[in-house]
Amino acid sequence: MNTITPVTRPPDLYGRPRSDSFMQKLAALSDHAVTRLARRTTPHTPPRRPPATEMPVIRELVVAAKHQEAEDVVSLRLAAPDGAILPPWQPGAHIELHLPSGRKRQYSLCGDPADRYRYRIAVRRIANGQGGSAEVHDALTDSMRVAVTGPRNAFPFAAEASILFIAGGIGITPILPMAREAARRGLDWRLVHTGRSRASMPFAAELAELAAAAPSRVSIRPDDEFSAPETADLLNLSPAEGAVYCCGPAPMIDGVRRAFGDSRASALHFERFAPPPITDGRPFELQLGGTGRVLPVPHDRSALDVLHEALPDLPFSCRQGFCGTCQVRVAQGHVDHRDRRLTATERAAGAMLPCVSRAPEGQRLVLEV
Ligand code: FES
Repeated sequence: MNTITPVTRPPDLYGRPRSDSFMQKLAALSDHAVTRLARRTTPHTPPRRPPATEMPVIRELVVAAKHQEAEDVVSLRLAAPDGAILPPWQPGAHIELHLPSGRKRQYSLCGDPADRYRYRIAVRRIANGQGGSAEVHDALTDSMRVAVTGPRNAFPFAAEASILFIAGGIGITPILPMAREAARRGLDWRLVHTGRSRASMPFAAELAELAAAAPSRVSIRPDDEFSAPETADLLNLSPAEGAVYCCGPAPMIDGVRRAFGDSRASALHFERFAPPPITDGRPFELQLGGTGRVLPVPHDRSALDVLHEALPDLPFSCRQGFCGTCQVRVAQGHVDHRDRRLTATERAAGAMLPCVSRAPEGQRLVLEV
């Protein structure tokens, strides 16, 4: 379980400094938590991916509607230009948008799987991001055509009998269809949605409607009303021997993973929408084959981040080692492969996914770029 790290950093659910008491509790729990996580959860289940030989189908869709769902959050409804039926999907699935700039970005489907004519996604504008979310907000307008691949599902919903859903901010997008499915199946479920403020949290009305028959199932917890919740307090709501589904900011997911071992639940499923933290990172070098330029990669940065500064057009999407978009070819050097995408044959042929993969300390990889 090499991505479960000792408790050395003090983030709250949103990455802000924590109180000493919280740290003391986490430190006391950490060894036990790691042991139980290794035994009882599936945090490292590889995202499902198509076989390497399967070529993704690129489909052109049209923006049928664009709505402001919350502060800095817009939703898009995408439909086939001729009104044709769309491929089916299950809760937890995502699509990949091919934006006009050439950027590719993955977004969870947050509509109704029973609606076979429209996909809905929701996107929060990231102020200091890489430009993908800003492009969705600013450049995609009603009636515009956009290429899409998918749906694919890297966060499948197993419909356990009792479930706690934890969503942070825009992390509600994959969770909303799951909660709907849980309600439809008559499961024992509960959902907690956290965020900065009510104004920043999308789909409150849909959640309220979902919980109309049983209001206690849904808790909306804006920080400006309740203060940021402690991870342990959230997990105290988990059902005995039930499942926890979590999607939100990286500090929330990391906190839930650390604290999960002391909860009553027996399975943890989560999805990141940001790269995982680099674990056991060691400095190494990249050499660009075309120019001979050497780029040092520090221990705390990904090879993709460093490459992207030198080659701004290098494509990427998930930054988690499962979509394959960032693939480069290595002409020389030993790669420490950390992805869940490439086959042994592809690796042997020199393929590397620099968003997650690295090289041993001090070594150099010569890239065919
Ligand atoms: S960006 Fe998806 S595998 Fe690297």
